[in-house]
This record gives sequence, structure tokens and C-alpha cells, in this order.
Amino acid sequence: MNEYKLPSAKEARFRRKTYKAPIIYDSVLLTESQKQLGVNLKYHVLTYGCQANVRDGEVISGILENMSYTFAEKLSDADIIILNTCAIRENAEKRVLGVIGSLKAYKRLKPDMIIGLCGCIPQQEEMVKMIIEKYPIVELIFGTHNITSLPKLLENVINTKKRNVEVLSVLGCIYEDLPSVRQFEHKAFVNIMDGCDKFCTYCIVPYTRGQQRSRKLEDILKEVNELKSKGYKEITLLGQNVNAYGKDLDQGYTFGDLLEKVSDTGIKRVRFTTSHPWEFDDKMIDIIAERENLMPFIHLPLQSGNDEILKLMGRRYTSKQYKELHDKIKSKIKNVSISTDIIVGFPNETEEQFLDTMKMVEHCQYDNAYSFVFSARAETPAARMKDTVSITEKKERLQRLNKRLGYYSKLNNQKWVGQIVEVLVDGVSKKNPAFMSGYTPQQKLVNFSYDNAEIGDIIYVEITQGMKNSLNGVQVHLGKENHE
Ligand code: SAH
Ligand code: SF4
Ligand code: F3S
Repeated sequence: MNEYKLPSAKEARFRRKTYKAPIIYDSVLLTESQKQLGVNLKYHVLTYGCQANVRDGEVISGILENMSYTFAEKLSDADIIILNTCAIRENAEKRVLGVIGSLKAYKRLKPDMIIGLCGCIPQQEEMVKMIIEKYPIVELIFGTHNITSLPKLLENVINTKKRNVEVLSVLGCIYEDLPSVRQFEHKAFVNIMDGCDKFCTYCIVPYTRGQQRSRKLEDILKEVNELKSKGYKEITLLGQNVNAYGKDLDQGYTFGDLLEKVSDTGIKRVRFTTSHPWEFDDKMIDIIAERENLMPFIHLPLQSGNDEILKLMGRRYTSKQYKELHDKIKSKIKNVSISTDIIVGFPNETEEQFLDTMKMVEHCQYDNAYSFVFSARAETPAARMKDTVSITEKKERLQRLNKRLGYYSKLNNQKWVGQIVEVLVDGVSKKNPAFMSGYTPQQKLVNFSYDNAEIGDIIYVEITQGMKNSLNGVQVHLGKENHE
């Protein structure tokens, strides 16, 4: 293991209050040999996890294409496959390990194929050691802090035919001017920050992503303006905690100010995720209520409706504060839709405490929700708590919860029947190839029949049916569609 650069759980936990993250412009400068490394070779990137990882996957693809690699549709055609991984819950990790297992067959047929691993899994000391030991086919490993080392590491693997591992546990930098191959040509993710300092007691993210570091306002606006001039209609501002945006910069602007400036660019649709209920200020609510291009959709993770559990989770709000914030958002932002994340079965959660979560669901009647059974993550405080609740009990709670969440999703979706909504067209519907699909401002998925719609158009659809996870509709013409 000595020849490898490995992460350290102790260092991953470390934070410095006065830390100012260095900004690195021209982040990926390639040597002549690196630019030619992928001539006649193909790559494939498999991304798991959150939008931050999706964005990283786009950057990894961008770096590989700058190295002359071209995209392989099929895994079997690839000369390099990179697994961009997520560690948020045990099943996310198991899934990736399963995929590595299945790649053995490809490697056998094509021994020169390089299998790379990056993202949040290798940021954990024990996990990366286990992978090094048990999965010899993984020859290239890097972490979330050094995506820009990919050219150097890959060149080493090819030239030396030896495994290269470089994972850093550092506070982190801000990388600008990153190459990227974006997933879509009409909607894009824009990172506004990385890292997280909240340390919710169950969560691995602060350990895998480092200290919170915000990009400068002008660098974000430059990216948004470039996307707009390329014809992008929608951007989603990304951060683990967008409401804390700018607090590490001391430049006197908040997320509300950033929203206002991004709205001023005139891009058609602006979304953001994730907003923690803590630090959600009035400026954010007011500006979203005021501006037409700030979409009326808020993801407001609850996690639990019980105060003791919230405290043990380190969430820093009470159920009363959550409820008040929720109600304020509902009353101030017209037609807003609200989604949430909920964890059931936090260590020692009692039936009564779980019922407080159910009560909050009855109150908030969410448009959409993601619910999870608590998964113990190594090195986190919650993983050390003794737990007396059985997994059967936890799964049974999840089922009860999902039933109510599903009921409200459907109820809320049915309220749209008969209304005409704006839809940004994403492409052919996955449900029915004769239909297209896209999202409404409220982030509702709509499958619709059409006569004049192309990817990237903003068109009108009359809603005919509301199901649990989507709406059905028919394109209508009001004469103010945007086909630009
Ligand atoms: N930064 C976001 C959350 C990102 S993780 C926020 O604070 O809202 C996405 C969701 O995964 C979390 O909201 C939480 O509901 C869930 N999650 C995180 N860690 C988990 C764990 N150890 N077990 C189960 N669910 C977890
Ligand atoms: Fe995890 Fe909490 Fe940070 Fe969200 S805010 S990423 S749940 S530690
Ligand atoms: Fe997963 Fe890492 Fe995102 S753990 S949720 S990919 S920050």
C-alpha cells in the first residue's frame, strides 16, 4: 500500500474556520503526450449518486475527450471505464461493487481495458483499502479532490502498466475552467460550491467532499452567461447546502443575492438544490416569489419530524421551525411545489418518534419525496450509536411512510388536471415513444402527445391525468411558445 496516496479518515474530518480555498484557473493543462494518449481509444463513464457527481462525471468526460478519447456507447467497446461512485448509503456502495464484479468479464476479453474508480467511495480510508485488496482489476483510483490528476494518473497506468492510486483528504480547492461534456444541450448543472460543513451525524458527505468552498459570484455568472449564449434554457445551481453559499468568502453576498444576479442574466429557468431548512432566509423566498425565471420548486429535506431525533441528527432546526418555514414558503411563493428527503429508523427511533414524521407528512403533503432507511456510515457519529430497532421494523415504517407520501404525490399531481402548463421539452418519453416528456416549472414530469415540439422548446401542455410520479397531457398552442 505504501506506493499509494490514500485518504485519511482523521484528516477528512478536519476543518479550519478561517480557510480560504485557493482558486485554480486553467485547471487542466495537458502535456502534448497527454493530448494524444487517447487517439483511437474509447471511454465510458458510469456515474452514481447526486447531481454533484453527475457534474463531476461531465468534467471527467471533458478531460478524457481533451486527451483524444472518444465516447463508447457500449461498455464492451471502451478502452477505459470510469466508475464515478457514491457512498451515501450501503446499498449505493454495494451496487458499485457489483458492477466492478461484472466488469471482470469485459477485462478478460480485453486485457488492456483500464478500469478506474473515483467519486465518494474511494474517499473513505477503509473502503479504498478494501478495493485495492479485493479488486485487482481496478487499476486507477482517484478522489473527489483531484479529478484534475486524471491525465497524469492515466498516463502512468498506461506507461508503467501498474496500478495508480491518489486520493487526497484535504480541505479542498476551487477548480475553474474545467473542460466538460455536458449531458444535455438545453439544461445544465452549475456548481456554485463544493463540500459541506454541516456534519449531520448520519452523513458521509462532509468526509468525502471536504470543507465548504463557494465559487466566486463572477465565475458563476460567467458560466451561466456562456450557457445562455449557447442556447441553454435551464440551469440548476448545485451545492450540498446552497443557502450557506458565500459564507466562506466574506464578500458580503448570500445565496439570495446570487439568485437575484443569476435571474438578471435572463436565462429562462433557474433551479437550485439542495436547500437545508437551516439558513433558509427571507431574501431567498422573496426573490423566488418575485422573479418569473426562478422556478417555484423547493427541495426541503425534513429527515425527521421528531425534535429529539432531529437533535441527534445534528440538523439544527426543530419540527416547529421546519413547519413555519414550510408554511411561509407555501404562502409566499405562488403555486410552489415542495419535495423532501426523510430517513426512517435512525438509531433507537421509537414508534412515537416515527409517528411525528408521519404527522409532518400529513401537514406538509409533499409534492414529491425521497425516503430512506438509515444506513450506518463508517466514521460518522450515528454509526457509533447503539441501535435497538430491528431492520424489519425499519422497513415496515418505510412502507407505511411511502404509502402516505405516494398518496399526497398523486393527490397533488391530480390538482393539475385541466390546467395548461409550460414544459421544457427533454426528448422522447421513456414511457411511450409516441410521446415526448419534459418538466413543468414545479418540476413535475409530463409525458405528452405533440404536433410541434423539439428538445429544448418551451411549450404548453394541457394536463389530462395525474399519477403518482408524473402527469400526462396534450400539447396546445397559445401563440407564445418558445421554439428558439
Ligand atoms: N445535502 C443534502 C443531502 C444530500 S444526501 C441535504 O442536506 O439536504 C441526500 C439524502 O440522503 C439526505 O437528505 C438524507 O435523507 C439521505 N441520507 C444521507 N445519509 C444517509 C444515511 N446514512 N442513511 C440514510 N439516508 C441518508
Ligand atoms: Fe450531509 Fe447534512 Fe451536509 Fe446534507 S447538510 S450533505 S445531509 S452533512
Ligand atoms: Fe453520494 Fe458523494 Fe453525492 S456520497 S450523494 S455522490 S456527495
